[in-house]
Amino acid sequence: MPHPSTATVMNDLMNGELRAAHLYWQAGAWCVERNLNGCSELLLTHADEELTHMKKMLNYLVDCEWPIRFQALPEPKVDTESVQELFQLILDHEKKVTDGINRAVKEAQASDDHSTFEFLQWFVMEQREEIKTFQGIIDRIKLIGDGPHSLYYIDKEVAEMSASMAASGGA
Ligand SMILES: [Fe+2]
Ligand SMILES: [Fe+2]
Repeated sequence: MPHPSTATVMNDLMNGELRAAHLYWQAGAWCVERNLNGCSELLLTHADEELTHMKKMLNYLVDCEWPIRFQALPEPKVDTESVQELFQLILDHEKKVTDGINRAVKEAQASDDHSTFEFLQWFVMEQREEIKTFQGIIDRIKLIGDGPHSLYYIDKEVAEMSASMAASGGA
């Protein structure tokens, strides 16, 4: 039996989750280099979450007996000197991931793949949470101000958000 069109779409989404982890590692490293330990903790913890998303997708492909093809990872670009821009870059990335998941949902619907449609609902909700989290961080940075004297307070604020997210089981 030929694989449905959703098989390729799901394989691409699995690779997207791995690319996301790669970006979060680079963003976390950017913060470590600037002694922003609260921000790095949140971003590196989030990289772990992206890996669990990747494994969820991988397990689904295994269950469906669809092909699993890992793709080359592009260099993650974290080309900024501003912490606000760093989180904006993350938010923009998450919006692109959300678009990809929404396209996959449409594809599953169009090809009557109810199982994949149901499976993807968890990711739809997860993306909603992630967008909310990173938009929330940007809003707080805007309130505090992104100047060199604000970095200590921004990092403290993000550390508190990271701790409360960990206590409630993640973003
Ligand atoms: Fe994810
Ligand atoms: Fe994400």
